[in-house]
Amino acid sequence: MSRVLLVGASRGIGLELVKQYAAGGHEVIACVRDTQAATLLDEVMTDAQGIRKEGLDISDAESISAAAARIGDQAIDILVICAGAVGGGRQSLDDLDLEEWHRSLNTNTIGPALVAKAFKANLAASGAGNLMILTSQLAASTWPMGGMFIYATTKAAVSKVGQILALDWKDDPITVSLMHPGWVQTDMGGPHAQITVEESASGIRQVIDGLSKEDSGNFYRWNGEIHPW
Ligand SMILES: NC(=O)c1ccc[n+]([C@@H]2O[C@H](COP(=O)([O-])OP(=O)(O)OC[C@H]3O[C@@H](n4cnc5c(N)ncnc54)[C@H](OP(=O)(O)O)[C@@H]3O)[C@@H](O)[C@H]2O)c1
Repeated sequence: MSRVLLVGASRGIGLELVKQYAAGGHEVIACVRDTQAATLLDEVMTDAQGIRKEGLDISDAESISAAAARIGDQAIDILVICAGAVGGGRQSLDDLDLEEWHRSLNTNTIGPALVAKAFKANLAASGAGNLMILTSQLAASTWPMGGMFIYATTKAAVSKVGQILALDWKDDPITVSLMHPGWVQTDMGGPHAQITVEESASGIRQVIDGLSKEDSGNFYRWNGEIHPW
């Protein structure tokens, strides 16, 4: 059984991964921005074993360090960064919210890099650690969709963070991957999205199960296909 750390576990894909990994008998550390407000996670925890709740605001460097200090030097086999902000949806150059752009950069790009730094030793201690960052097809240069400056640029940047980590950690026992989780029926994806949160999370778990070190730096779709950059 693995120890799995999920960042952004209060709802959506992160919460579904908590459910599925716990149901599979894995030990789950579920990190949420606000431990008092994570009522859906609390409900899951009343019915499931082996879940520990931790506070971690990915947009706040001190919060990330504090969570890492509480978690200590335990080995982590799988770390999935699910936390993400949509940055206000569609916008044109005339209605850009600059403060939102900076906030989303902290959440979507800088935060994941700081989480990687904070938990690198834990992933290495596993002997075969997996760091996966949920990015988006909107990050890809091959995906021609305009009007989402904030989300698309901050996700493109985090995809690059993942690619750089895979190169810089080539001698460490850690596989780094990027994942487009699908267009998923969550608060972010909306009710008319293409796939359910259960389908997305089970696809993500299957991809992680099949990864080995030579896959480091790959960008996947939830169904296991390689996503073009
Ligand atoms: N749904 C889709 O169609 C889709 C498509 C492509 C990519 N993605 C990506 O997949 C990931 C998960 O998406 P989702 O659909 O599950 O989104 P969601 O339902 O909107 O949930 C977003 C999650 O991120 C957490 N979060 C946001 N800011 C945070 C912060 N500062 N610190 C810690 N947690 C924070 C939220 O916590 P709070 O409850 O505290 O706000 C929530 O748990 C995101 O990175 C998203 O960009 C989703």
